[in-house]
Amino acid sequence: MTHVDWIHFRKSVRKYKKNNIEPKVQEALKAQFEKVEPIAAHAAYDIHLVEDGRQMKQALEGLASRYMLVKAPHYLVLTCRNDATDIFNLGYIGEQLVKYLTLQNLGTCWIGARLSQEKLREMFPVDESHDFSIVIAFGEPVAPLEFIRNRKRKGIEEVFYGFNTLSDTDKFIAESLLTAPSAMNNQPWRFYFNGGVWDYYKTLPKGIFSKALRDLVNVDTGIALYHVIETAHSLGSAIQFEVMDLHKGDQNYMGTLKICD
Ligand SMILES: Cc1cc2nc3c(=O)[nH]c(=O)nc-3n(C[C@H](O)[C@H](O)[C@H](O)COP(=O)(O)O)c2cc1C
Repeated sequence: MTHVDWIHFRKSVRKYKKNNIEPKVQEALKAQFEKVEPIAAHAAYDIHLVEDGRQMKQALEGLASRYMLVKAPHYLVLTCRNDATDIFNLGYIGEQLVKYLTLQNLGTCWIGARLSQEKLREMFPVDESHDFSIVIAFGEPVAPLEFIRNRKRKGIEEVFYGFNTLSDTDKFIAESLLTAPSAMNNQPWRFYFNGGVWDYYKTLPKGIFSKALRDLVNVDTGIALYHVIETAHSLGSAIQFEVMDLHKGDQNYMGTLKICD
């Protein structure tokens, strides 16, 4: 597995071996916490390692969350302020750790279960301003990771408008969108090719959906953006991404991406 094709090996792993990962791998992972790069300069975030996965159950809130939690030897808990930009950034940050773990041949699974912020604070110190959290389960997978050729996804032209007008390199970069995970596996992100730049939008669930689902869409869009930017970097392309101030303008507009060849 390489820095380019890790996206094809990553999948949501729901069956883990019971054993803990080696302490030195845990330490190396913690060192990565300092190396991740935010997409929004002013976004706040924090990352915690739950070394003993059995502790995670106690932080769950509500019955549905019990069913959502995937049993794993370890978890990462990422926290931020309850703010659309922060949550978008959290997806972008978390997927960098997913990349790191995947390259160690470890399995990962993002978990959208609701956590009690009170109980989290009993497990580790959480910044006072942070009241949003998301989890990534990880550990040694029962079945080794392998290159995945077919995933259940929308077609590329449904998520990238103007895909056919892109250069071959840009098509390769755009297609990395389809390897990204999303909470409902509905790829709630759209790119529009707009005179040399790519405008990035999210698609919010219609009808009376809970705020929780909308928050997960912000996480999803951060994750997918990381797949695109990381793939462009791996081909040697420089990327500029200007984050929209998510409190202003079109609610669904996330920002604009420019690939500088
Ligand atoms: C933000 C987020 C939350 C998720 N929450 C859960 C979850 O609670 N339980 C679960 O089994 N899978 C969860 N998933 C995994 C998705 O179901 C999975 O990514 C999707 O079905 C695509 O499959 P793949 O990741 O194997 O490509 C979540 C994924 C994301 C990105």
